[in-house]
Amino acid sequence: MPEALLIILAYMIGSIPTAVWISKHFFGIDIRDYGSGNAGATNTYRVLGSKWGTIVMIVDMLKGVIATSLYITLPYYTVLSHEVDRTNMMIGLGLAAVLGHIFPIWANFKGGKGVATLFGMILAIQPIVAASCVGVFLIVLYLTRFVSLSSILSSVAFAVFILFIFNDDVQLYRIFSVAVALMVILTHQKNINRIIKGTESKVPILKHRDR
Ligand code: G3P
Repeated sequence: MPEALLIILAYMIGSIPTAVWISKHFFGIDIRDYGSGNAGATNTYRVLGSKWGTIVMIVDMLKGVIATSLYITLPYYTVLSHEVDRTNMMIGLGLAAVLGHIFPIWANFKGGKGVATLFGMILAIQPIVAASCVGVFLIVLYLTRFVSLSSILSSVAFAVFILFIFNDDVQLYRIFSVAVALMVILTHQKNINRIIKGTESKVPILKHRDR
């Protein structure tokens, strides 16, 4: 069954623990023991600097793009008349990659929060929606300097875009958009607690100018 094999492959691609491997290979540490303890781009930026944070962000995003695009290896999904099947297949593949990123088989199932890989997935399915989510992310980041809150609100915005603005008629995609918003809220529980307590760290480069 080629679809099932592709889903497994997508999960394995998503499982590539970019931040963990970079921190271990180049710095001799495990990123999960530092900063927020998250194996993602933000924590890599925080602990290892902007260059490595950017590299992790790009690779983690590409995992989503590549895994979601695996559907093209199944020629019948590239036919226009199979629009719904193709979108459903992309959702299955992308979701497998996002779950791989959060629960990576190559790193004891302790990975990141799924945001960059999820963004790559949305980029592969609907670039305009992905760009709109980036817009929300940047506005929230500018206003609050919390990457975590920007991630949460851009995921919620994704669901709102799909349900009410872009009005996507693929039922699974609509369900998926809501599930994704809930999933990102769940993976950010510790961040939410820290924001409430006032201990969440902020991105320094976007610091507002003192008056
Ligand atoms: O995508 C993860 C980001 O939203 C929060 O990362 O390291 O601050 O928990 P972190």
